[in-house]
Amino acid sequence: MCWGLRNRLSHIIKEDGHTVMLAVDHGYFLGPTTGLEVPGKTIEPLLPHADSLMLTRGVLRTSVDPVAPIPIVLRVSGGNSIIGKELSDEDITVSFEDAIRLNVSAVALSIYIGSEYEHRTIVNLSRLVDEGEKYGIPVLAVTAVGREMARDAKYLGLCCRIAAEMGAHFVKTYYCEDFEKVVESCPVPLVIAGGKKIPEKDALKLAFDVVNHGAVGVDMGRNIFQSENPVAMIRAVRAIVHEKASVDDAYELYKGFKRE
Ligand code: 5RP
Repeated sequence: MCWGLRNRLSHIIKEDGHTVMLAVDHGYFLGPTTGLEVPGKTIEPLLPHADSLMLTRGVLRTSVDPVAPIPIVLRVSGGNSIIGKELSDEDITVSFEDAIRLNVSAVALSIYIGSEYEHRTIVNLSRLVDEGEKYGIPVLAVTAVGREMARDAKYLGLCCRIAAEMGAHFVKTYYCEDFEKVVESCPVPLVIAGGKKIPEKDALKLAFDVVNHGAVGVDMGRNIFQSENPVAMIRAVRAIVHEKASVDDAYELYKGFKRE
């Protein structure tokens, strides 16, 4: 891994080997989803507590202050929508030149293993890795987005391993039973999506489980920006990921931060 690529990856996965990525890229296929109706309003108060921000170039350019000291993970795939025929019908929608122009710390695309367009998305990953290696920008492979997938260790293990084999520098997936098997068979770091909104304490338990079963952290969206108090929630997630807080302690912190 060249110096530049390692340097950029270190902007995201911190010195303690962990990360709290804030994911706000949902609009690329969901539109103004709950909590992201006005992206800038949602993002701004959360920035000081996120290790990096995962989003599209459209939201980055319109809704994030360019002087904000936040490493960017740029979503560079798209071309689908939640009302379209086939969610896996995605392609690369951002030039690597534009990603470089935006001074991003990483680029991200989804691969849809087992879906109709799995071949195209896997080959897109490989091509993106070629560009990433050329310019020293890490590639995050997002796996298992899609309604019909059984998110068990066998399937997630397959997705994460294929992503790593294609050269992804880190992989985003979901938590599952026997998650440690997914970690063991994937030779690059894993970050875990939060998935659909669940009660805050359950989301904190999820964050605790992922980091205590081998993931380097979370790339959480809805369980933060759809929380009753997003700032309190991301601060509590940080306590778990970076300060080894217990679930109970983090939940107490969440309730305390809410009262501030
Ligand atoms: C959506 C994504 C999101 O970045 C990912 O799912 C994380 O967000 P959440 O925690 O809300 O699941 O890739 O396509």
